[in-house]
Amino acid sequence: MKEKIGVFYGSTTCYTEMAAEKISAEINILTKTDCTRLHDINDTSVLKMADYKYLIAGIPTWDFGELQEDWEDQWEELREINLESKYVALFGLGDQIGYPEWFQDAMGYLWQKLKDQGAIMVGTWPNQGYSFTHSKALNAEESMFLGLPLDDENQFDQTDSKIQVWTKKILTEFGILNFE
Ligand SMILES: Cc1cc2nc3c(=O)[nH]c(=O)nc-3n(C[C@H](O)[C@H](O)[C@H](O)COP(=O)(O)O)c2cc1C
Repeated sequence: MKEKIGVFYGSTTCYTEMAAEKISAEINILTKTDCTRLHDINDTSVLKMADYKYLIAGIPTWDFGELQEDWEDQWEELREINLESKYVALFGLGDQIGYPEWFQDAMGYLWQKLKDQGAIMVGTWPNQGYSFTHSKALNAEESMFLGLPLDDENQFDQTDSKIQVWTKKILTEFGILNFE
């Protein structure tokens, strides 16, 4: 595959970074190429997202429903990116037991922000198998998360298998491979 996939993430205590690395490695295995490029937005401008047709963005929720600090620092810059006809899939890190009222909220904020920039948003995930009271990262029917919610505090043993299923789903929705 000639086209590259940009993986952009912010991570304060490295869990989102680890997930980004796993997602990137899994996609490279599935596509049998070295097509992913990892970008920690702590030292990369989000404006670089415009270089890619296919994007994956990772964000943890911090401080009772708030954005992770690196995403917060560049939040206004996101408004300058034209994402029309670009495909974007999101994943989030959160803690459903510690913060059940704000589970994965930041993923919901990022979804809306990138959709407003014209992106074609893909990569939803069923809300079953989680225990929480509120989340701003659900679709209007509240049946699906708007991206892949990972919880390494409480469900670390499920992370790898969720990534395996989700990467196949997003590569299919990107139109790169068909696993249906
Ligand atoms: C002070 C604090 C506040 C947090 N607030 C939330 C929250 O509101 N919602 C949530 O889903 N997770 C929350 N978390 C859990 C983090 O999202 C989780 O630890 C995540 O793995 C951190 O990712 P990172 O290591 O990539 O920064 C919080 C964690 C801490 C320590």
